[in-house]
Amino acid sequence: MAELYGVIGDPIAHSLSPAMHNDAFQALGLDAYYHAFHVTPDNLEAAVKGMKAIGVAGFNVTIPHKAAIMQYLDDIDPIAKTIGAVNTVVRRSGRWIGYNTDGPGFLQALKEEIGRPLAGDKVLVIGAGGAAKAIYYSLCREGAQQVDLSNRTKEKAEAIRNANPYPCPSQVLTLDEAEKNLGSYTLIVQTTSIGMYPKTDAQAVSLANLQPGAFVSDIIYNPFETKFLKEAKKRGARTQNGLGMFIYQGAVAFEKWTGIKPDTERMKSIVLKHLG
Ligand code: ATR
Repeated sequence: MAELYGVIGDPIAHSLSPAMHNDAFQALGLDAYYHAFHVTPDNLEAAVKGMKAIGVAGFNVTIPHKAAIMQYLDDIDPIAKTIGAVNTVVRRSGRWIGYNTDGPGFLQALKEEIGRPLAGDKVLVIGAGGAAKAIYYSLCREGAQQVDLSNRTKEKAEAIRNANPYPCPSQVLTLDEAEKNLGSYTLIVQTTSIGMYPKTDAQAVSLANLQPGAFVSDIIYNPFETKFLKEAKKRGARTQNGLGMFIYQGAVAFEKWTGIKPDTERMKSIVLKHLG
């Protein structure tokens, strides 16, 4: 009998995860199927219980359930607990175990593209949502020289820094301060939803002071190149969009479910085909 996997979210219709995972199952000859389930917040508890009852083998969790899901799981990985968000759930001996694969996914994509160790990097992370938290902790864990955080609501960035399980040299800045000091960063990571489709004309901070040799990453992949990345490129920076993070967070989840590392190049080509 085929193993059933899926993703729960609201909205969920445009998720690229089913195409990516179903292709990977097929490529590996696994008898498994991945489905996108539209679950509204008032149905979350019933959905999680129902999936356990019918024997679902594992699932992804996306907006708006990444924090709320935690109360319905049997166990949560310590890093996911610190981040306060779960995007991957695995069934082990009939128990639901929650993980967060966003940080590892981001880091793997970044390291592949940047092609050097991050030990010498002075990093700026823009934003203080769930994605920022996962990314900030993984950059500190990876041993970046300094990782600063900047957010419209400074208190949220301070709370993230104070809860960091991998303390590293780090300052919290307002968006204005970040713009002024931008020239001192070798790596800048944009994690807010600013610039995401359909409001593609928006940009989190001005890049006027960017150093030309910097590496600029934006976790958005729709549009494929945000206004922020276009400007960074114009100013001589190397850039990376959020596609790699999306692929690798999925690949890490896939491996947790099946014990097999999927072909990420193949995953990428499937997602690119669906993005048009
Ligand atoms: P996620 O969990 O997906 O990362 P989130 O928790 O909704 O997303 O966080 C969104 C981030 O984008 C936050 O850092 C938010 O800033 P605030 O903490 O001040 O709310 C930021 N953000 C969203 N819209 C913004 C805007 N128009 N201007 C500045 N920051 C914005």
